[in-house]
Amino acid sequence: MENPEERAWRAEFPITERLLYLNNCSLTPLHRRSEAALAEYARTWSELGGRAWFDHWLGVLEEVRAGFAHVLGADAEEIALEPAVSAALVTAASTFDYARRPKVVIADIDFPTDGHTWLALASRGVEVEFVRSPDRINVPLELFERAVDERTALVCTGHVYYTSGAIQDVRGLAEICHRKGAALVVDAYQSIGALEFDVHDSGVDFLVGGTLKWLMGGPGMAFLYARKDRIAAARPTALGWWAMENPFDFDVQHLDLAGNARRFEYGTPAIAAAYTARAGLALLDEVGIATVRGRHMTLSQRLVDGAHEQGWTVRCPTDARRRTPIVTLEHPDPSVAVASLRQNGVICDYRPGLIRLSPHYFNTLGEMDRALGFLAQLRVAPAIV
Ligand SMILES: Cc1ncc(COP(=O)(O)O)c(C=O)c1O
Repeated sequence: MENPEERAWRAEFPITERLLYLNNCSLTPLHRRSEAALAEYARTWSELGGRAWFDHWLGVLEEVRAGFAHVLGADAEEIALEPAVSAALVTAASTFDYARRPKVVIADIDFPTDGHTWLALASRGVEVEFVRSPDRINVPLELFERAVDERTALVCTGHVYYTSGAIQDVRGLAEICHRKGAALVVDAYQSIGALEFDVHDSGVDFLVGGTLKWLMGGPGMAFLYARKDRIAAARPTALGWWAMENPFDFDVQHLDLAGNARRFEYGTPAIAAAYTARAGLALLDEVGIATVRGRHMTLSQRLVDGAHEQGWTVRCPTDARRRTPIVTLEHPDPSVAVASLRQNGVICDYRPGLIRLSPHYFNTLGEMDRALGFLAQLRVAPAIV
C-alpha cells in the first residue's frame, strides 16, 4: 500500500491513476502544476497579447534560467536557454577552432545527437573518433585517456548513458581532457535532476540538458551551461538576435554579443515550454534531488533484483550507486514485449535488443512487483546449445 507521502506525490501525476508509468527517462508525464502553468500561460496571452512579454514572460524566462543554474550549482550568467539539447550542442560546437585540433572524441553508446553534431562538421575538417564501450554499459576512463591526444579539440559524452543509465565520472574525464589541452562537453540530459551535481566542481567546459526527463518540465526547453572563463572568448556562429547584448535595440548591422552565456541563444523562445519548465523545476526543488535519488535507487534495485531472479540478462550496472533508475533487460524482440506490457497498462520503452524501464520517485515498490509479474511472462529462455 502507498504511504501518505507516496499518495501526495502520486496525486501530482494524474497518469498514475490509470497506468503503471515506467518511461520517465524518456518523458516524465504531465503533473498538475505544469497543467496549471499552461492555463496561466494561455490566460496571460489571451488577456495581454504582446504586452505579456514585459508583464510576465521575460520574467518567467529569467526564473527558468535561475532554476537551471540552481540545479547545477552554476551562476545564471553561465546559462543559455535553448530550444533543444541538439541546438545547444550546435552553438557550443560552433565556438571551437578545429584547424590545429580537428579531432572530437565521442563514445559509441552516446545519444545520437552527440555524434551527429560533429559528424555534420566533417566538411570543415572535423574528424570524429568513437571510443568503443566494451560492455555496452559504460566507458572506462582509460579508453578516453588513450583516445585524447594533442590533435583533440574536445570530448563530448554523456554524464549518464541513455540506454544503460551508467554514471560516467565526468570530473575524472575533465581532468584527462584538460591535462591534454582538450575541452569537455557533457550531455547531462539523463543526469540532471536525478543526481546531486556541482557543475563548477566537475570542471566541465560546456554542459547541456533539458526538461523532458528528470526536470519534469516537458518538451521545448533546454539549456547550455558555459563555464564562466570560456564565455568572453567564445564567438559562436550558430546564434540569433536573442544572443545580442540588447536584442530590443533591433540593430541589424552589428553583432554585439551578450557579455554572458546569452550569447549562445537563438530566437524567440517557446513560452508555453518556459511555463511548464518553471513548474517542473519548482516541483523538483520541493521534493528534493536527494529524495528523488534515494527513491530511484530503491525502486530500480527492486527491478534489477527481481529481473535477476527471473533469469533476465540485465544490461545496466547492477549496483544502484553506479546508475540512475534506468533498468535495461536484453530481449530478442523488445518492441513486441513493450507492446504486450502496454496492453497490461505498463508503459516503458525499447531500444535495439533492450526493454528499458525507468521508474521515478512517484512510483512504488508495489508497482515494481506488478511490472515484474508481467515481465516474468515475457522472458525468453536462452537456447540450449
Ligand atoms: C542523453 C540525451 N541527449 C539528448 C537527448 C535529446 O535532446 P533534444 O531532443 O533536446 O535535442 C536525449 C533524449 O531525448 C537524451 O537522452
